[in-house]
Amino acid sequence: MKVAATGEELRGHLHGITGKRVLVPTMGALHAGHLELVRRAREAAGDGGTVVVSIFVNPIQFDRAGDLAAYPRPLAEDLDKCRDAGVDVVFTPEAEAMYFRDRSVTVTESLLSRGLCGATRPGHFDGVCTVVLKLFLLSGCDAAVFGEKDFQQLAIIRRMVRDLDVPVEIIGCPTVREPDGLAMSSRNVRLSQAQRADAPRIHRALSKAATLADPQAVLACARAEIEASPLARIDYLELVDAETLQPVESLEKPAVLATAVFFGEVRLIDHVPVRRGH
Ligand code: PAJ
Repeated sequence: MKVAATGEELRGHLHGITGKRVLVPTMGALHAGHLELVRRAREAAGDGGTVVVSIFVNPIQFDRAGDLAAYPRPLAEDLDKCRDAGVDVVFTPEAEAMYFRDRSVTVTESLLSRGLCGATRPGHFDGVCTVVLKLFLLSGCDAAVFGEKDFQQLAIIRRMVRDLDVPVEIIGCPTVREPDGLAMSSRNVRLSQAQRADAPRIHRALSKAATLADPQAVLACARAEIEASPLARIDYLELVDAETLQPVESLEKPAVLATAVFFGEVRLIDHVPVRRGH
């Protein structure tokens, strides 16, 4: 396994490589969800293909300085996990190697990123789109794997690739959960014991609410189930169209019930599909 700290080193490691190149962009603190993306990337790369994992805690997508500072960075363990998972190249740049101090170009998606996480995290998806496009260009990847856990992020990246003719195939991967239903996240390690014990209520609430027939009932049920905990504070809870991500008032088309919930300073997101008749 090769490790590159700069774009130049990455290009050097990848020089002359033929076969399919598949990228898995991450911010590190790797867990089984990330490793499932790597497995999917290995599959997509096929024989003779190359799997590249980037580990970069991207400062320009953080809207809260405290969240950026507290983001876990267990690099040595992450590298071991990548090695065990059969990754070919890991890209671990510092912020200085990624961004010029006077950088002045940003990629903005202006429709799908308005609601949900975009509404409460100003600038977040500009930061995501900008870094993801840079990672695509630096790695010269043919395909990239993203988790459905961040379904708004996945939708926005698909839109960026479509609208800017980016020659990268986007592969989505289902959410990997803990046995108690909590979606795996690098932020879960920051939960206290009591918060961790309570956090599975998010997925329980969404799953229960998703069985109801009417949008108002769906939202009311999920809200009541989450707010029943004194530890949980809802950032947003929305029922949106699965394609446009705009709020829906009926369940004619496939919809998604999505939420972000604070446990103390830790913000967790999750979503479930909602279809009439379910
Ligand atoms: P990060 O939160 O580290 O996630 C990296 C990738 O892993 C994303 O595609 C995310 O959707 C996926 N992932 C995280 N938890 C998952 C789970 N439980 N099941 C399945 N997939 C999961 O998302 C980011 O980093 C950043 O925004 C990034 C795309 C790297 C840009 O900086």
